[in-house]
Amino acid sequence: MKEWMGKIRNLSLFTLMLLLLSACGKDNLTALVPKGYGAEESLRVIIITITVMIVVFVVVMAIFVYVLMKFRQKKGQENMIPKQTEGNKTLEIVWTVIPILLLIIIAVPTIAVTYNLADETEKEDSININVTGKQFWWHFEYPEEEIQTSQDLYIPVGQKVYLNMLSSDVIHSFWVPALSGKMDVNPDNENTMFIEAYEEGVYWGKCAEFCGDSHSLMDFKIVVVSQEEYDQWVADMQNVDPEFVPESTTAQEGKALFEDSCLSCHAVGNTPSVGPNLSNFGDRTMIAGVLEHSEEELVEWILDPASKKPGNGMLDAPYLQDDSVSEEDAEKIAEYLLQLKASEINPDSAE
Ligand code: CUA
Repeated sequence: MKEWMGKIRNLSLFTLMLLLLSACGKDNLTALVPKGYGAEESLRVIIITITVMIVVFVVVMAIFVYVLMKFRQKKGQENMIPKQTEGNKTLEIVWTVIPILLLIIIAVPTIAVTYNLADETEKEDSININVTGKQFWWHFEYPEEEIQTSQDLYIPVGQKVYLNMLSSDVIHSFWVPALSGKMDVNPDNENTMFIEAYEEGVYWGKCAEFCGDSHSLMDFKIVVVSQEEYDQWVADMQNVDPEFVPESTTAQEGKALFEDSCLSCHAVGNTPSVGPNLSNFGDRTMIAGVLEHSEEELVEWILDPASKKPGNGMLDAPYLQDDSVSEEDAEKIAEYLLQLKASEINPDSAE
């Protein structure tokens, strides 16, 4: 008995550890610790549903075990058939009504929450952001603020922010578990959702619809900041100057190389682009959503993006076909890109 208890205790410790580990790889990548309206509402429905399921499971198992014990074959009664019950109206009404009641208990809050999350009434005076899913990254456009960026979605805390979502290739799914539920991002019809974050912080997001080789690497984040920080970020992004000339000669050479080899797909500033917009790239914390933000990683990414994110759109870049960017060139480009910082471009506005 004691041995069994020990085993059970070890097993539950192990499960707990797994749960903790799975949640701590990337902070906040969990729906069980909600930090926004959508996630909180969803968790409410999850808890109600799980509670109903546990009650059903326990009751059914109890009856099952009771029946097994009471009606098991006893010695000397091998050929006995117990009394059979059929057409019992009361019993049939009871086991029809109970599931209906349980389904109502689940359905009412589920439908209410679904309608709450579909609310679009305050769209006019809210922040609207156009989200585009692409293999395997996210483009964010703030049309009223005239800002375009990628991978990091900045929003102010405590405000409803509306997302209008489209894909430019296959179906993706936008999911920031700590803030809200999943929403399909389709090529044809625009889907909308809103997010409202309760706490400042960086919330990790995942693409939740299989979309190709690097589906699992289609990470992004929502950066929730105070209203003042948000206003500052907007100002910094609006001040992005594509003509900005860095101080060092290598970075200047990097800029020229970037304009030759990269600018046909990428963009800096409020310009539409096929590839990720790199405005204030130096201020970001990740490269391509999944790589450490260092010069070394950036050089490797420029020279061999297939090794980091298989199947991504950059693999078609002409410079990779004709090997026109050497390692030395890539280092210069990286140096230039890492200097694309609000504080470098416009020292006065960054404070
Ligand atoms: Cu995009 Cu999976």
